[in-house]
This record gives sequence, structure tokens and C-alpha cells, in this order.
Amino acid sequence: MVRDFIGNTPLRRDEYLSMRYNTNILIKEEFHNPGKSSKDRAAWFMVEDAIKTNKIAPGGTFVEASSGNTGISIALIAKKLGYKAKIFVSASCSDEKIDLLKSYGAEIQQCDNSNGLHVFNSTQYLAQNYSSNTENTYFTNQYYNSNNIKAHYKTTGPEIWTQTNGEVTHVLVGVGTGGSISGIGRYLKEQNPKVKIFGIEPKDSVYSLYMQNIPIPDEEAKFDSIEGIGRTFIPGAFDKNAVDEIFQIDKNATVSISKKYREISGNLLGYSSAAVLAALDKHIEKMNLTENDQVVLFFPDHGDRYIHKLYKDLVSIEEISEDYNASI
Ligand SMILES: Cc1ncc(COP(=O)(O)O)c(C=O)c1O
Repeated sequence: MVRDFIGNTPLRRDEYLSMRYNTNILIKEEFHNPGKSSKDRAAWFMVEDAIKTNKIAPGGTFVEASSGNTGISIALIAKKLGYKAKIFVSASCSDEKIDLLKSYGAEIQQCDNSNGLHVFNSTQYLAQNYSSNTENTYFTNQYYNSNNIKAHYKTTGPEIWTQTNGEVTHVLVGVGTGGSISGIGRYLKEQNPKVKIFGIEPKDSVYSLYMQNIPIPDEEAKFDSIEGIGRTFIPGAFDKNAVDEIFQIDKNATVSISKKYREISGNLLGYSSAAVLAALDKHIEKMNLTENDQVVLFFPDHGDRYIHKLYKDLVSIEEISEDYNASI
């Protein structure tokens, strides 16, 4: 059963980062999920709920709007359970993710998200429109589906708590739909209200405005594109009460730390994972870390999904595959 393989991912102490930042840096490695990203968790909860509550009949089509990872997870799970998947992806989605979607048999429609997610040609709009007008389809709608938060509340949060023996002090999570940070933060703060939950978004995304009660401009903002994170609106899957602060990070700092980390450790970071590390590096003073703290960095996927975007110029493909094989 595919469910049995989702979650329970390792929490690895990173010796280099722990030494560099003089504290305990623990990495939650989500690329160990079957679909190789944290999105398997939300996808499973959304699909299972739809099937159990008869929102879709056997053989039907799951529909999602996704920059890639949620789509990949939905496609994989749908296929395993005998359903179909139709995924609306943004034109910026990496070639590696498109190839994977195709390999799971998903039907793909590429859309233009350059004017945000609420215009007629966006992934979100077209997915909703398709599902509303096609028999036996179900739009999982990760931005507004409570099972997105629930997945992390029921699985990721408890895993982090258990894996740190209840000693986690800080968690850094990239924010896209908000499902991961909200579920993790809600669970951990219930165990210990002192745990600090920091969200990471690209420069000019709107979560930090929202956290500071600053009105969000009506006009869709253009934010730095870092696959998976940043938004121009606040989705229903984001729970402000589960979060202490949102840090912004720019794309150049993200790309540069991914290359530096690769040189030092040999590991390839996913794009949003590199953003989390760059944010730790940039905002560490504000976090008031001590040497006894247990700081968890949530890494949703692996750098093998971004070879063309992050690592193309750095090393040969053969070298990358060797590193990746060694790390799994
Ligand atoms: C690579 C990556 N990082 C971060 C996120 C953000 O996670 P969430 O949507 O739970 O906020 C996503 C979501 O798709 C992602 O694919």
C-alpha cells in the first residue's frame, strides 16, 4: 500500500551546518517519500478523503493546479489506486518535473501564471473550471483543502516531535500553500508553545505583509520565482497562529548558497530547501539561537529536480547522479 511508504522520513543532523552556526541543525529530508517530496503527505490526505467521502467514483480523474511536486504526488497516488490525474502546471515548471508527471501517466496542461493565480488562464482557474465542467473529476485544490494542513498536523509535526525527543526549539519551513508550516507549527506549538516556527518566502511575496497586518495590495505582486514557495495572495491553507515570523530571501542568495553547500557537502539542495538555508544564514541574528537549540530545517525535495536551474554549470550530470545515489 503506497500509504505505508509516505512519511517517516529521516531527520539528519548536519555536522557542517551545526558547526558553522554553533547549534544543532537537523534536516528533515522529505525526498525519501515515494514521490520524492513532502507533497506526498498532503496528496495522500486529500485523495484519501475524496475517496472515503465519495467525492469521486472509481476510475475518476483527480485534478490539481501545481508547480510540479503536488502534481507528481497526486499522479503517483492516483495511478496506484486506479484513478487518473490531470495536472495544470505553470510554464515555469522544471523539465525534470514535467518528465516525471508524464512518467506517472498524468495528463498535463501548461498554463501562464505570470499574472497570478486568479486570472482566466492560470493553473488554479483552469483546474477549477475543468473540474466543474467534467464528470467524475475531483479538484484536490491544495490551496483551500483542510487536508493539506491536516497531513502535516497528523504526520510531519509528530515525526519532528518524536525524532527530537520533544526537544525541537525552532523549525524553518518554506511557504507555498502554507499547508506544511501550518500543520507542523500547529502540532508543535500544542506540544510546546515556546517552539519557534519561521516561514521562508521569496522577496516580494505577501506572507510577511500579512503577518504584520499590512494590507495586501489589490494588484498581484510579482515575486522572485523560487519553485514551490511565495504567493501573491493568502491561501486558506495558511494558519497565521501557527507561525512566529516570515523571513524573505532573494533568489541570488538562494542560488549562491545552493552552490556553496554543494561544494562543501556534496549534496544537492532543492530550490526551496536552498531558500530555507539562505534564510537561516541571513536572518540568524534575529533567531537568537543558543548552542543547545535543536533547529529543524524542512527540506521538501531534492536538488535532482533542479539540475537545469541550479546545478547545470557546476558539475557534470554523471557526478550529480553519483552524489544523488549516495545520498538516498
Ligand atoms: C519544493 C517545494 N517547496 C516548498 C513548498 C511549499 O509547501 P507548502 O505548499 O506546504 O507551503 C512546495 C509546495 O508545493 C514545494 O513543492
